[in-house]
Amino acid sequence: MADTMKWVMNHMPKTEDKNLPIMSVEEVKKARTFHQSFPQYKETPLTKLPKMAAYFGLGSLFVKDESYRFGLNAFKVLGGSYSMAKYIAKETGKDVSELPYDVLTSDKLHDEFGTATFFTATDGNHGRGVAWAANKLRQNAVVHMPKGTTQTRLENIRKLGAKVDILDLNYDDCVRQAAKEASETPRGVIVQDTAWDGYEEIPSWIMQGYGTMAMEAAQQLNEQGIDRPTHVFVQAGVGSLAGAVVGFFSNLYKDNPPVFVVVEAEAAACLYKGAAAGDGKPRIVDGDMQTIMAGLACGEPNTISWDILKNHVKMFVAAPDWVAAQGMRMLGAPIKGDPAITSGESGAAPFGALSVLMTSDDCADVRKELGLDETANVLVFSTEGDTDPQRYKNIVWKGLDK
Ligand SMILES: Cc1ncc(COP(=O)(O)O)c(C=O)c1O
Repeated sequence: MADTMKWVMNHMPKTEDKNLPIMSVEEVKKARTFHQSFPQYKETPLTKLPKMAAYFGLGSLFVKDESYRFGLNAFKVLGGSYSMAKYIAKETGKDVSELPYDVLTSDKLHDEFGTATFFTATDGNHGRGVAWAANKLRQNAVVHMPKGTTQTRLENIRKLGAKVDILDLNYDDCVRQAAKEASETPRGVIVQDTAWDGYEEIPSWIMQGYGTMAMEAAQQLNEQGIDRPTHVFVQAGVGSLAGAVVGFFSNLYKDNPPVFVVVEAEAAACLYKGAAAGDGKPRIVDGDMQTIMAGLACGEPNTISWDILKNHVKMFVAAPDWVAAQGMRMLGAPIKGDPAITSGESGAAPFGALSVLMTSDDCADVRKELGLDETANVLVFSTEGDTDPQRYKNIVWKGLDK
């Protein structure tokens, strides 16, 4: 019998919520305006699944499909690109609104700013976003990847001109290595998609960059006649993305926020572990964190996000690999009449968790507690497509575990 999916309701003590303004509507608007200046910019689809909603017994169900983001198959580039622009703006004494894409890539700005080296650690998607942005902005990028990363993900980064390698370290130790090298390199900058004590400015810009995706989704829901989602399901590795999404929607729907559910890979469920401990202090997961959800294999929470999540999330889920695999298969082969969505291992985790909650007899009580019924309008984030195409085929076509 496969491991069962676990969840815990959030009963952690609330704080003064000092990080919520990072994800204010005004800040996210700035990020979105920046992204809109890119020639590659196009809103990613918000796909409606009416048949699946009926099958689950929900009012409506929408999936934000990030496989279409900038041709990079994942949402992550939103954070890397915005944080690099904010950094360059700060260094050159400008506001980011003065640096749309054509200015940022101009010879004039290049002469003014020169060349920095942006360091990062990544399971794949963030590093690809940083490498892509560095390439467009004529900057250097150095990317370290944890052991277990696939060669395909490495090649995708190398193709963009970054210096990239796989280290014999887990993700969190790769982060420490990248930060150390950046501090020892002239004009070295660490652009990491997580925060820790003393390293908060760049990660907060990264989170604001992710806000573009949430802001698009809110607007697209309105266009489809939905005032606001009643429930939002989002995945977490370090929790930057979840903090961004939860923070933005908590600001946007201040008086009536949705019910937020955060889904992690069981092998790396640091937020779930912290919520289960219940005292409000973060917890860490270490070791190799074996999971097919490569993007979620991070064991140390983002300190900025943790505070936002503690104050606003209703439930934390620790999902075994089969939950993500089930999500991938159901999105790839939905009920006839609904459109198919290509969603990778980390991308499909929230949808997989929703499918378990809505179809398992053991979940009747939790469905009731969350209000997941025919009055619910549910928004789910699919944050990547088939970023590792071979693994995607193995799972979805061949029915393998990985
Ligand atoms: C596809 C995908 N989804 C979700 C996440 C989780 O984001 P975070 O680490 O900010 O929680 C990642 C992180 O790399 C990812 O690559």
